[in-house]
Amino acid sequence: MNRLIVGNWKHNPGTLAEALALAQGVVRIEAPENVDVVACPPLPYLSGIRALHPDLPLGVQDVSSQPLGAHTGEVGTAIFKSLDISYAIIGHSERRVLGETDEEIAAKVSAALSAGITPIVCIGEGRTVQELGSDAVRAFLTKQLDAIPDGAGIVIAYEPIWAIGSGIADDPERAGTTAHFIAEYVAPRMQNVRVLYGGSATAENASTFLEQDAIDGLLVGGASLDATKFAGIVHAR
Ligand code: PGA
Repeated sequence: MNRLIVGNWKHNPGTLAEALALAQGVVRIEAPENVDVVACPPLPYLSGIRALHPDLPLGVQDVSSQPLGAHTGEVGTAIFKSLDISYAIIGHSERRVLGETDEEIAAKVSAALSAGITPIVCIGEGRTVQELGSDAVRAFLTKQLDAIPDGAGIVIAYEPIWAIGSGIADDPERAGTTAHFIAEYVAPRMQNVRVLYGGSATAENASTFLEQDAIDGLLVGGASLDATKFAGIVHAR
């Protein structure tokens, strides 16, 4: 399976013009043949970017589990399919902290799978759990993994919460061991899973994560907002 490098733009940039410029920068990256590159911009920029770049793989940062209809504020899979969106980040810790539950995440994953959109499900422990040691971390991750419905082609992003946006990435070997645990744990009920690492990934540290056997790619926040830095990650060996 190809390596997967996903740019999560989060709530950035502030204007359509900047978003189009960033998308242009991503399109110009000549990714190695075995690397899939995905950009996940804020929703209002999707159609503008799609119109200019029909072949750029795009993802969304959340997806409604509701069907089309009277659901004010929801945006779901039918609309995303119409824009040829192929990935959906689901259960990011920045959404879980706002109250998103495992049940809601499961419903979103099911909706995405039924529509042929690849879910990128985020899991990860906070600092308090991490300090309790690896058994506690595994118990915590197991609970989050148990809530993900069975399926093929699901992407799981392991993002220790304390590493997100902090500038302090996880220790690559520890992340690799955790990714291995995740892959083994879900293998009996999920096929073709890819496990990503996320949390302060940069062009400088990317290869230390990507050289871990069980890490199939990266979910990149801050460093995806600069096409040059993002290109450095895409080209990491
Ligand atoms: P970061 O974000 O690269 O800025 O740490 C990663 C993420 O939240 O997906």
